[in-house]
Amino acid sequence: MSTAFDKKRFHERLKTQFLGRTLICRESVGSTQDLAREEARKGAAEGTIVLAEEQTKGRGRLGRAWVSPPGENIYATLLLRPELGVLRYLSMIAPLAIAQAVEEETGLAVAIKWPNDIMISGRKLAGVLIESELREERVEYSLVGMGVNVNLAPQRFPEIEASATSLKEQTGKETTREEFLATLLNRFEGLYLAAKHGEPPYKAWRERLETLGKSVQVTW
Ligand code: BTN
Repeated sequence: MSTAFDKKRFHERLKTQFLGRTLICRESVGSTQDLAREEARKGAAEGTIVLAEEQTKGRGRLGRAWVSPPGENIYATLLLRPELGVLRYLSMIAPLAIAQAVEEETGLAVAIKWPNDIMISGRKLAGVLIESELREERVEYSLVGMGVNVNLAPQRFPEIEASATSLKEQTGKETTREEFLATLLNRFEGLYLAAKHGEPPYKAWRERLETLGKSVQVTW
């Protein structure tokens, strides 16, 4: 049985300076990307995280839907206001942070499938959707949407049954969403600050690419 996201438990594990210090948590939204965009336009601080128990119109890349049943998974959008030079690294930082958090919390080995799908044993565990608003070559805001299948049973959803997995399916036990999300943001902030200080994540991201050296077909 799922329980509501426990903010206290999340903050106890959070070690960041600014990521996740403001948490907006909703029972049900269309997409956390849309709520985060509203907050960004109202001037919300960098590092604000928008979280929902359920999404009724969760979006994936390339116009796909993101299966978002209540209480089981992480549906989160992180609001950032990076310099233009750091913006291009967000699509590496996000999957890397998720991969590092999975390894830290569960010990499972994780790969990244180009450009930023997070895979375990050839199945998709998590995805990243980045939407940014630029004005006159300045980044107004970036919305880093992360969907992680934490306690999902993929067999309940025929549309993803063959292609998706979850931490629960892989480990055989429940993972605490609060602790996982805090670890994810701890990792994300480390990678983000490093990129800001001139240490891009390119090498670490490339080393995890499961498509490295293989021929891939890209559909645009
Ligand atoms: C993909 O792999 O296609 C990207 C999936 C991104 C899903 C997340 S869940 C939180 C945020 N809100 C959304 O509507 N999408 C992203």
